[in-house]
Amino acid sequence: MACAKSGLVAGVFAGALLASAATSAQNVEYNYLLHCGGCHIEDGSGMPPHVPDLRVEMPYFASFTEGRAYIARVPGVVQSPMNTEQLTEVLNLLLNRFAPANANLQPYSVDEVTRYQQEVLLDPKKLRDQLLAHKPATTEHSVTINLDN
Ligand code: HEC
Repeated sequence: MACAKSGLVAGVFAGALLASAATSAQNVEYNYLLHCGGCHIEDGSGMPPHVPDLRVEMPYFASFTEGRAYIARVPGVVQSPMNTEQLTEVLNLLLNRFAPANANLQPYSVDEVTRYQQEVLLDPKKLRDQLLAHKPATTEHSVTINLDN
């Protein structure tokens, strides 16, 4: 019994060492998984249409002020138990990961997130639809596959 207990203590201790050796980037990743991943899934794919796929429209929203405010004001973000610094890091991790390399997006600053967070959105879906209605048409062409050939 004593042995089992000391084994457990050693395990916890090793875990703590590992955690403290983790880089900040790993902590951000961990915070995403812990505080956002339950709904948005590890890879950001979410559960559309209820939980949006973060890989699809988030880079567009992040490219203009109202969209940036929308991102920082959705209930899942505002009500997160993370502090504003941690939240800012998580938002920037997502932008880094999901925006196209040439999107040239401005990372969030802690001040910016603090400002937006003073107000939670009461109807996020409505604002989302309004913002998407202003999205310029994409220049991508759909590919048609002709099954007859
Ligand atoms: C309880 C589930 C849940 C959690 C936890 C959650 N979200 Fe969300 N998230 C949603 C839902 C649902 C929406 C759609 C808007 C709404 O109805 O709130 C959303 C919308 C978003 C959007 C807007 C994306 C778009 O395409 O419109 C972003 C960005 C986002 N969440 C990021 C996060 C981040 C970052 C975290 C962690 C800090 C987080 N969410 C935690 C459920 C969640």
